Amino acid sequence: MRRITMFDTTLRDGEQCPGASLEPHEKLEIAKQLARLGVDVIEAGFPISSSGDADAVRRIAETVKGPVICALARSLAADIDAAARALAPAAKKRIHVFLATSPIHRKYKLRKAKDEIVRQAVWAVTYAKRYGKDVEFSPEDASRTEPEFLFQVLEAVITAGATTVNIPDTVGFAIPDQFGPLIGAIKERVPNIGRARVSVHCHNDLGLSVPNSLAAIANGADQVECTINGIGERAGNTSLEEVVMSLNIRRDYYQAQTGVDTTQIYKTSRLVSSLTGIVVQPNKAIVGDNAFSHESGIHQDGVLKHRRTYEILRPQDVGVQESRLVLGKLSGRHAVVARLKQLGYTLQSTEIDRVFEQFKQLADKKREVFDEDLSALVEEELPGVAETYKLAYVHTTSGSETVPTATIRLTKAGKTIQDAACGDGPVDACYQTIDRMTGLSPELVDYSLRSVTGGTDALGDVVVKLRANGVEVTGRGTSTDIIEASAKAYVNAINRLLARSARLPRQRRGRRSGGRGRSITP
Ligand code: KIV
Ligand code: ZN
Repeated sequence: MRRITMFDTTLRDGEQCPGASLEPHEKLEIAKQLARLGVDVIEAGFPISSSGDADAVRRIAETVKGPVICALARSLAADIDAAARALAPAAKKRIHVFLATSPIHRKYKLRKAKDEIVRQAVWAVTYAKRYGKDVEFSPEDASRTEPEFLFQVLEAVITAGATTVNIPDTVGFAIPDQFGPLIGAIKERVPNIGRARVSVHCHNDLGLSVPNSLAAIANGADQVECTINGIGERAGNTSLEEVVMSLNIRRDYYQAQTGVDTTQIYKTSRLVSSLTGIVVQPNKAIVGDNAFSHESGIHQDGVLKHRRTYEILRPQDVGVQESRLVLGKLSGRHAVVARLKQLGYTLQSTEIDRVFEQFKQLADKKREVFDEDLSALVEEELPGVAETYKLAYVHTTSGSETVPTATIRLTKAGKTIQDAACGDGPVDACYQTIDRMTGLSPELVDYSLRSVTGGTDALGDVVVKLRANGVEVTGRGTSTDIIEASAKAYVNAINRLLARSARLPRQRRGRRSGGRGRSITP
């Protein structure tokens, strides 16, 4: 089993993704998570490019232990000095120097002949070696460089001390059937290649960055340069999660492994997405929202019978809790019953018939039937789940010098009850009052407020998620007054909890939940 070095460049090439820009403290947060993920090398930035980047590299070098911390430099003294300064505090550091070698870059960008390129590359590696043993060299645009010249450059930089030689497909031009053999040829034709690790760095302009990287591994590459979610310049870089999981799932073929803790993948993906603002496409392999979702009834039935009929990855292996069966018009009874069970409903077969009939009608009108829709169907269809409490009146006082207080009036079975209580704010005061009046105190798992339309007179739409006795429900309330919308949503959720509780199997009722949770069966 070969061990592949995972070199993460999310913070350098990934940040070159149009629209992505990270503050130094955000880069530090990502770097810490990359260390937890178990990457071997973190390319933290390009220090000469800005003082912010230099600062970020320095902070990462000071704080993040475990992986090698790397910084990028052109083959110029000022760049290499800046990289070395930023990396100084790192326990393990690497300077990564690059110089273009392809005919088009030599002629138009650098205006240099081949022998000048070789001289400058050798000089840069020698200069970088003054700062440490670990030096990587990249012949930029390697995949469009004449192979013979590429071999010559690689031999020269390895003689000068490069410990890793990286082969970039800078413009995403390569195709796997050529790129794999190119790596094989480098391994065969560069006489001193045994003294360096061979790395690849692929861009995704033709959507081939992962296949090219895998072809390179199959042909002997020791290191792969990747980014989380595949973000990067133009169409992006090789996606780390796709390479890692391909090696993992197809170990039989590649006979190679990485040191990545795959259960950290999803968390890392979400962190990078939220800090860069680059959303993950739903159908993205491994980390997209749909990666573990099944829509077709045939697939749902298969997965329920044996997960591996339609899933090659276990969601838990990448840190996703569980697969999702998307309930919609293609779903069958098997999937609906399974979801009802997950939601805590145990229904008789005739009750299931009625709910399933209603489900089919709803699914014809609605693309996806969510858990809340299904709960609403059960509550509407079956007896004994009527609205127990109705909000009749809400009044709150709050302000900078006032103790937030709420007065609430509820009706229950035609009777009106009233109470008042204080809280941390007006919404909390409402919820404390309602808890007192209903004798329940479920855990507030989530609260969200959004405006339904624009303008200051917009309708506020509040959604709350409550949990008690292992049962979770969602309640919704709308009003032009956001406090009233909040109270309505809470009362709505309480009614659902009560309805759900009535349908739970006996032993689950009355079990206390943690935190504020109290029995929901009075
Ligand atoms: O794509 C590229 O060629 C690069 C190099 C600097 C390695 O990012
Ligand atoms: Zn690149």
